[in-house]
Amino acid sequence: MLYPLIRPLIFALDAERAHGLSIALLRLLPTGAPAAADPMLAQTVAGLAFPNPVGLAAGYDKDGLVAHKMHGLGFGFAELGTLTPLPQPGNPRPRLFRLAEDRAVINRMGFNNGGQAAGAERVAKRRAKNGAIIGINIGANKDATAAGRGVADYVTGVACMAPLADYLTVNISSPNTPGLRALQDRAALDALLSAVMAARGGNAPSNGRHAPPIFLKVAPDLEPADVEDIAAACIDHGVDALIVSNTTIARPPLRSVHAGEAGGLSGAPLHDAALARLKDFRRALGPRLPLIGVGGIATADQAYARIRAGASLIQLYSALVYEGPYLAKRINAGLKALLARDGFSSITQAVGIDG
Ligand SMILES: Cc1cc2nc3c(=O)[nH]c(=O)nc-3n(C[C@H](O)[C@H](O)[C@H](O)COP(=O)(O)O)c2cc1C
Repeated sequence: MLYPLIRPLIFALDAERAHGLSIALLRLLPTGAPAAADPMLAQTVAGLAFPNPVGLAAGYDKDGLVAHKMHGLGFGFAELGTLTPLPQPGNPRPRLFRLAEDRAVINRMGFNNGGQAAGAERVAKRRAKNGAIIGINIGANKDATAAGRGVADYVTGVACMAPLADYLTVNISSPNTPGLRALQDRAALDALLSAVMAARGGNAPSNGRHAPPIFLKVAPDLEPADVEDIAAACIDHGVDALIVSNTTIARPPLRSVHAGEAGGLSGAPLHDAALARLKDFRRALGPRLPLIGVGGIATADQAYARIRAGASLIQLYSALVYEGPYLAKRINAGLKALLARDGFSSITQAVGIDG
């Protein structure tokens, strides 16, 4: 209710400053108990009990400063990162742009983050106090792929973050790290997933190690043959869930003055492509692998459509900029009404119903 009133003040700030301010304010929030499971919206996906299906997408909280508090805003889970093995500054500013007329964002942040060692320490401290579901998104340092260390960076990430993560996301789809998206090609993906799965290891009680589920996050800019290849690799290597999708390098018609900025586009103009790719993966995979739908989701209707198209869970980021911090709460309330309208008593009955 309040957000439309204060939004002009926030929009008067440079986008990256506004982001920093929102993180600072959230750090002041009390942590509170994790979200209570809603009987209609709760489900188990990849062995994890999600209290509701609405998650915070990676990139908002790269360093894990507030992820453990997002349930206070209605989120059922939060994904921090992308964290790279070594800290890195990211690209020069400005590198984050609001496209208000398009309800969109363009970013070329370039994985600015404080590195995995600092991230691990922070997550370890906060995790002990809190049972919220926290995913950790890992990537490669800027120069890693060119130096032939791409796979090694992910192995480092698994070794460092697996003990602390409820799930790990292998991010091979950010457009702002040179060579990263080439890891989506079949041969490269096979090599990467073999190494990641070996590093994660099994959940053998004898070794007492925590082996979290592995999620893979892909780009929306994929040809049908890429979809088939990625789907097959996920099954072959036992990936636990697929996140569809990251930002797009495509430029559908846009009205904002920032339309020409380089980087990944997210928000409303990504909606249709992200939904189309989700449907492609659902067709390729059927119900064999849970899907997480991301990209341009701003309303309960859009979240529900993504679920009916095959997503067990959804994530969002850009719409928070335009709709305010309580969007997850509103989407959950709307989802319950939509499920009831269609005669479902549980979200699990709606997943993939249109497929
Ligand atoms: C500023 C910004 C930074 C992002 N950083 C990351 C990142 O570090 N890792 C990642 O996997 N995705 C990142 N994303 C992508 C989002 O997680 C999400 O996949 C994408 O924005 C589409 O969802 P949306 O339309 O709801 O924003 C970023 C997005 C934005 C807008």
